[in-house]
Amino acid sequence: MSARRSAVVVGSGGREHALARALAACGADVVVTPGNPGMPDTLNGASITCDAREASDLEADLFVIGPEVPLVEGLADQLRDMGRLVVGPGAQGAQVEGSKAFMKELLRDAHVPTAAFWSVSTVEEAEEVLSTLSPPYVIKTDGLAAGKGVLVTLDRAEALRDVEEKLSGRSFGAAGSTVVIEEGLEGPECSLIALCDGTTAVPCAPAQDFKRLLDEDEGPNTGGMGAYSPMPDVDDVLTKELMEVAVLPTLKELKARGIDYRGVLYAGLMLTKTGPKVIEFNVRFGDPETQVILPRFKNDLFDVLRGVASGQIAEIPEFRDERAVTVVLAAANYPGTPVLGAEIRGLASNGQLAEPIEGVTVFHAGTTRVAPQGPFLVNGGRVLAVTGVGATLEEARAKAYRGASSIEFEGMQRRNDIAARAAKEEGHR
Ligand code: AMP
Ligand code: GLY
Repeated sequence: MSARRSAVVVGSGGREHALARALAACGADVVVTPGNPGMPDTLNGASITCDAREASDLEADLFVIGPEVPLVEGLADQLRDMGRLVVGPGAQGAQVEGSKAFMKELLRDAHVPTAAFWSVSTVEEAEEVLSTLSPPYVIKTDGLAAGKGVLVTLDRAEALRDVEEKLSGRSFGAAGSTVVIEEGLEGPECSLIALCDGTTAVPCAPAQDFKRLLDEDEGPNTGGMGAYSPMPDVDDVLTKELMEVAVLPTLKELKARGIDYRGVLYAGLMLTKTGPKVIEFNVRFGDPETQVILPRFKNDLFDVLRGVASGQIAEIPEFRDERAVTVVLAAANYPGTPVLGAEIRGLASNGQLAEPIEGVTVFHAGTTRVAPQGPFLVNGGRVLAVTGVGATLEEARAKAYRGASSIEFEGMQRRNDIAARAAKEEGHR
């Protein structure tokens, strides 16, 4: 009999919950650090537990680091130095997400198409750059800002006010001490999440994320309010092209710079009239994209990720034909400082729906519990992601919304149009 497999997942959000469930579904016992009280469960005889200790104090066959912050801080290096198998780049590779200026230079050297950009550190410089551009104007912080450091606007005065606000350090601290102004791109967006083993990269199914808070893409940018996968418009041929245009040259350039990149390269792409362009690269799985990608993952995720960590991807990921849609339930005032503490109704003690729906999974992100069996309470900006899986996008969407509608808490925010357009398009084919 072979020994049981084990994995540690670092993080506490919906993405990490999806990773933990997918790893447990292929028979690995998973410890999530720190995790959240909605995660513990038993699937297929494998356990998901949470542990407050540091990853470096835990042992497992495989370590998967979810969020960007520990990656940028060098957790993958630290664990590798201890002899652990790790999915996630070291601190040097994580600069791809940690610094927009680093990423932009890398893309330039790799000849990857991206928006033109200017780094500025004074309002006067910004004024000069903006006067040469036409709308939409795009203003970003240079450092990490949890997906919330971006303003896209048609109004130049608003763009300038935003530069001033970011440079002042009031909203983003040191992450805003350099501001990046970008050429505004237009077209559908696509998240392409690729798994890299240092030398080669293989794609996951494309997903689309909904970044704005409100329906019809109104309101401020968030970390993501929902997602669906696959994208009807992005078939295997286009996926291959996106890998060749965006991901593979970037990985090659990283290697040329002596960076052994083992982990996720997530290309945020815009499919413009003049071809695909990279908006950004992230160094981790997307959140909430992971909540629609992994439920369709056909291979043994543990084996594939072990290949990533050990520098030898042996299988190309395949995805089930089903569609997946996820709807994020966010706290009052998100993406500003969220209002915490509201009681969440509609969940059973195991964190799933009190009245289960076939094909619906609840992923916990910002939840907590005061007593071990007590009610779940709101404890973060994005609280839950409810994923529905079905034969068509319409069916997956209907399930996700049925699940989402059976959950309630005070001040809950959600979008009602996640995957609506794509489901309609798919229905017309
Ligand atoms: P980012 O955090 O860089 O992914 O940006 C968040 C969102 O802002 C993206 O998903 C786009 O919707 C939008 N955005 C970012 N950069 C651009 C750009 N150059 N042109 C148009 N929209 C952009
Ligand atoms: N959903 C966007 C991100 O993970 O950055």
